[in-house]
Amino acid sequence: MKKIALSTKPRRVKAAFIWPFAIVLTFILASFVATAYFLEVRVRDRALADRVAAVGKLVDQKLSKDTNLMQAVLRTMMGNPTIEAAFARHDRDALLGEVGPLFETLRTDHRITHLYFNGSDLVNVLRLHSPGQFGDLINRSTTIQARDQGKPVHGLELGPLGTLTLRLVVPWRRPAGILGYLEIGEEIGYLVDEIRDSLSVDLFVMVDKDFILPQQWQQGLTLFNRQGNWDRFGTRVLVAQTTAEVPAALNDSMLGRLSKGGSEVFKDGSRQLHLAMLPLNDASGRRIGDLVVMRDITNLQQTFLTSIMAVVLLSLLAGTGVLGLFYFSLDRVERDYRRQHDLEHQLLRLGTEHQRILQIEKLSALGTMVGEIAHQLNNPLVGVVNLAQLAVREADDPQRTRELLKEIHRAGADCHAFIQSMLRFSKVSSFESKPTPMAQVIEETVLMFRQTERRQITVETRLPEPSVVLTVDPILIRHALFNLLTNAAQACADDSASTIVIGLDPHVNPDSGAPGWMLSVTDHGQGIAADILGKIFLPFFTTRSDGTGLGLPVVQHVALVHGGYVSASSPQEGGTKFAIWLPTVNKFASENQSDQQHAAQNSGR
Ligand SMILES: Nc1ncnc2c1ncn2[C@@H]1O[C@H](COP(=O)(O)OP(=O)(O)OP(=O)(O)O)[C@@H](O)[C@H]1O
Ligand SMILES: [Mg+2]
Repeated sequence: MKKIALSTKPRRVKAAFIWPFAIVLTFILASFVATAYFLEVRVRDRALADRVAAVGKLVDQKLSKDTNLMQAVLRTMMGNPTIEAAFARHDRDALLGEVGPLFETLRTDHRITHLYFNGSDLVNVLRLHSPGQFGDLINRSTTIQARDQGKPVHGLELGPLGTLTLRLVVPWRRPAGILGYLEIGEEIGYLVDEIRDSLSVDLFVMVDKDFILPQQWQQGLTLFNRQGNWDRFGTRVLVAQTTAEVPAALNDSMLGRLSKGGSEVFKDGSRQLHLAMLPLNDASGRRIGDLVVMRDITNLQQTFLTSIMAVVLLSLLAGTGVLGLFYFSLDRVERDYRRQHDLEHQLLRLGTEHQRILQIEKLSALGTMVGEIAHQLNNPLVGVVNLAQLAVREADDPQRTRELLKEIHRAGADCHAFIQSMLRFSKVSSFESKPTPMAQVIEETVLMFRQTERRQITVETRLPEPSVVLTVDPILIRHALFNLLTNAAQACADDSASTIVIGLDPHVNPDSGAPGWMLSVTDHGQGIAADILGKIFLPFFTTRSDGTGLGLPVVQHVALVHGGYVSASSPQEGGTKFAIWLPTVNKFASENQSDQQHAAQNSGR
């Protein structure tokens, strides 16, 4: 038997799996938390970027809306012949009288702060917002561009006091030539407050120090009642803001980084602030400063922190749960594994034990067999030796010597008969099966039996029609049936006219469910006592003085080699029934046949 090698100690499944699993789980959770963090940061940066873009868009929208309004105002004025005539005459009083009330309405209702009538030579004819000041040359970039391009020009311009003004300059043409230029403008300081209110961001308008003088800037502060520090930043100066205080952390290096397009997050006291920057270009396309957009993200950061904490906590809980579940599953697996391991050990032990017992049984059967053979041979041989001694001693008496020699001959004949039956027993070990009509085998055996049996015993056969053909070894079947018939005859009383019945009936194997046939021999003899019934198939078991006890072992052997079995039953009222079950499809026979064919082919080569 092949030995299965088993380790003495079962493997520790839990220890082998739990640590790698815990490490993998920690890594997954850490990655999950890190991903959540980076996603939140991206969402926050994207929100600010969107806000900054919205600020830029809103500024453009407001400026374009105001420009449209200003354009409509100027067109209306240019369509008025009275105003045209007064402008052509450079009649300031007439112009003031005609346009003054309109300008007042524009100033109060639409924040228009400037309205100029400039001559074709760009010399100012009338300032509606400051009528006492005129006759100076207006050479601002918007006016120059309008003259050079001969079409309306608008854009932002930085005033001398550091104020940003939206200006629109429209050339006034007549068929005879250019009449002059109308210029209208508004200071856009209001814009930052409106944007703060609509987008909830704070704005700082910063102007490059190259475009403004400190004295002018100071005048602007005084005029608009604002506070500021010229030296607060190196190259920029603050000209408008929506908050009272400038964050302390906002310095030149941060502005430098912001101007490269990035964004900054920093703490200002208890607040968390997020900054980004938009360039400010004037009408001629120069970058005159920057618009710093600041968003208070304290609440957002708080929510962000809370959600990250929640994610970490949930991840930890989930991780612990999964780890716990895995631990318990592994624990169960380990326990099952241990149980199976123990079971395998026990089975292996039992298997070895079983092998040992089989070996012992074989040896003891061999011992019994040898003892029986010795016993069977010893009795006649002892007789031969004793009788021979007696014959020597009584050699003078020829009559006695002849008798003794006859005895010696009988004892020798007994030995010979025993050895013959031993040889018959050994012959049944060869097995050659072929499709055999069972009726024919039975008839032949009965014929043979009748020739050997001197008494008048009726043998009745009850066979199925048509005859059954089974793949069997006919010699072995004949041998077995003959033994059963002999036993049945020996069990019948000498004086009675007994009947032995041979039957062949279909029968399904109760264990395997395989179909087959039951070959039975029933007699009405003495029967078999219950205590003997269990021993009758043991070799050398016999109740007869001249029996060898090898008849039924042969029958059993024949049944087994055909893949069948033999059974014996003896009812209390007497008589015995022996039955050999033979399968319809003989597996052993087909294997045996293929072996034989193989052997024949081999020997034929
Ligand atoms: N039909 C039967 N009726 C009663 N007892 C039987 C019958 N067949 C067998 N036995 C019992 O079973 C024993 C064993 O039978 P088995 O055929 O093996 O040996 P045997 O007949 O004693 O000797 P032999 O070797 O000559 O056949 C018999 O001695 C007998 O006691
Ligand atoms: Mg017998």
